[in-house]
Amino acid sequence: MDAREAMERLNAEASQLNIWLRTQANAPAQRPWFRETGLEASGRLAEGRVGAAQLKPVPHRWRWAEIAPYLDRIAEIARGADVSPIEFAERQQFLLTNPGLGGRLQVTSTMRCAVSIYNPGDVAPVHIHTPNASRTILSDKGGYTTIEGERCEAARGDLILTPNGTWHDHGNDGAEPVVWIDVLDFPLMEFLDCVWLDEAFSGETQGNSRAQPVTLPASYSHKLYGRGGLVPSFVTHRRGFGHDTSPLFHYRGTDVREALTGLRQEQGDPYEAVTLRFVNPATGASVFPTLDYRAQLLRPGEATRFKRETASTLYIVMAGRGITEIAGRIYDWQTNDIFVAPGFTWRRHINKGEIDAILYAVSDAPLIEKIGQYRAQGRLPDDTVAELVA
Ligand SMILES: [Fe+2]
Repeated sequence: MDAREAMERLNAEASQLNIWLRTQANAPAQRPWFRETGLEASGRLAEGRVGAAQLKPVPHRWRWAEIAPYLDRIAEIARGADVSPIEFAERQQFLLTNPGLGGRLQVTSTMRCAVSIYNPGDVAPVHIHTPNASRTILSDKGGYTTIEGERCEAARGDLILTPNGTWHDHGNDGAEPVVWIDVLDFPLMEFLDCVWLDEAFSGETQGNSRAQPVTLPASYSHKLYGRGGLVPSFVTHRRGFGHDTSPLFHYRGTDVREALTGLRQEQGDPYEAVTLRFVNPATGASVFPTLDYRAQLLRPGEATRFKRETASTLYIVMAGRGITEIAGRIYDWQTNDIFVAPGFTWRRHINKGEIDAILYAVSDAPLIEKIGQYRAQGRLPDDTVAELVA
C-alpha cells in the first residue's frame, strides 16, 4: 500500500471537518540549508505538500518579446470598449504570476510585479495605500507620477517610489504610450491582513482625472537629496504617514547609469559585480522597510560567483544580454526581460554580450533581516561553501 496515497485519500475524507492528518508520509519537503548545498538546491516544495495551499515560488523568467505584445492587445480592447473609457484607462497592465504559486498574482511570497501601459490621456486617479510600490520606467520618456504634491516626470531607467502612506496618481499627458514595471510588497501586506486603500483625497483635485494638485517645485526630491552625502537639515525626512520609507521619491536612470559607469573599473563584488543600492538618503537604509532596490553592472564576459540567500530577488534587465543560472538551470535574458530567483536557490550571472549589462534587482532582504532570518552563502572557486552572512 502506498502510504502517501492512503494519507491523501484519508485527508480528502477528513477535509470536510477542516482538519489535515499529517504523518511523515505526507510531510512537506522542507529543505535543509546546511546539508543541501548542491547547485540544484531549490526552495521548491517537491512531493508531499501539506494541504493544497502550501505553495512556494520557483525560479522563472518572463521574456519581454513574448509578454510585451499583450500590452498592445489590452490597449486595442480598451479603444473599442463598450464600457466607460475611464474603467479601462485607469489601469491597463498585466501581472506576472510565478508558476509555483498556483496562479496567485505574485512573483514571490512577498512581491507583486506588473507591467503597465499608459496611453496618451490615461490617468490613474489619486489614491493612497499601505503596500509600498515602485515603478521602473522602460519607455525612453513620458508619463508622470505625482507623489505628495511632487510631480515626477519619467524617463527610462528611473525608479519612482510611492511609499506606504503617500498620496499618488499617475498619467500620461504626452503623445506616445508609456510602459513601466510596478513592483509592490502587496502579497506580504495581504498575508498580514494589512492592506487598505483610500481614494478620498481631502483637497481639491484636478477635474475629471481626479489628480492631486502639484504643490512642490519640479525635481523637489532631487533638490533636497540629489547630491550624495549631503542631506538638508531643515526638513523632517518623513513624507506621507509611512514609517521608515525614503523621502527621495525619484531616482533618475541617467544618474544610476553614470554612477555605475564611473565605477566599472573597480573590481566590484565577486558575487554581485559592480552594484549600487538605492537607499533612503536620510538613513542609508533600504528605501522601504520591506524591499531593497539595487542596480548592478556586469562587464562583457564577467561571471559572478554562485550565491544564495534566505531572501528572494526579482530582476529587471535594463541593458545587455546574458544568462543567469538558478538552481542548476540556465535562464538567458536580454533587455526588458524579467526573472526571479527565490530564496534558497543558488544563482550566478554571466554577461554574454559585447556591452555592459545592467540589472535592476528588488529583494525582500530587509524584511528577512528584520525578522532575524537573513543568511547568505557563496561558493568559492574551489567549490567550497563560504558563509557570507552566517
Ligand atoms: Fe498605488
